[in-house]
Amino acid sequence: MPLTIRDLQTYKRQGRIITALTAWDALSGAWVEASGCDVALVGDSLAMVSLGHSTTLPVSLEAMMHHAQAVGRAIHRPLLVADLPFLSYQCGPERAMAAAGRFLKETPCQAVKLEGAEPETTAVINRLVRSGIPVMGHLGLTPQSVHRLGWGRQACSAPDQERLRQKALDLQQQGCFALVLEHIPAMLASRLRRELEIPVIGIGAGPDCDGQILVTADLLGLTPSQPPFVKPRLQSTEMFKRELQSWCREQRHQGQTASPPKEDNPPGPGY
Ligand code: KIV
Repeated sequence: MPLTIRDLQTYKRQGRIITALTAWDALSGAWVEASGCDVALVGDSLAMVSLGHSTTLPVSLEAMMHHAQAVGRAIHRPLLVADLPFLSYQCGPERAMAAAGRFLKETPCQAVKLEGAEPETTAVINRLVRSGIPVMGHLGLTPQSVHRLGWGRQACSAPDQERLRQKALDLQQQGCFALVLEHIPAMLASRLRRELEIPVIGIGAGPDCDGQILVTADLLGLTPSQPPFVKPRLQSTEMFKRELQSWCREQRHQGQTASPPKEDNPPGPGY
């Protein structure tokens, strides 16, 4: 049975740390499933990781659905959450309902995540939650606002920290079941972990959170440039490049030195 949002809330009460990783297709989904983590996020970071864009903004709802369906084929135990892509929820509650509803009806996703806590966004969250759609919030570095806020650490000044704190309380009030805090000072995340009843899941927000999330491709060293708060576990890009180049060299060499076969074996039936 897949984990539920209630399981995550129980984990928080029990002090059990929640682990979350992103996935973008069935292959990465299988890695995430095998990791034993608690949450699999079909993050809109796939726009950068898998589709080659320089921000998350261009990915469409259709593309996110396609990736969520693929990930869903590989995910069995973790709670499966999908990001609502840019402009699928910023244009009003009705459009947001339609977009979020599609994830729950047409993919195995059990919840959606959306960024920010402006009054328009909290109105949307309230509408989704009251319709039975679980929502994960996301504050701090919110990549869909990169052109306004940049990629840097957020909430560095005392007034900004208080603003973010109020937004976090508001998201809980509107019914978010968990909150992602990205690239903010560790002290602020630690304080919010204690103030909020819902799980606080950090990414570049220090160790004192109810859970941690990372973009799997960053963790595995598969992306060309990682954010400053991720230390890749492997040098995968170099390793893959070396092995593929070596295979190409071997094939060329074998093809050049091979002698022609004595007789052709025609392919057997069903080949
Ligand atoms: O899109 C994503 O991968 C995310 C994580 C960074 C939390 O939102």
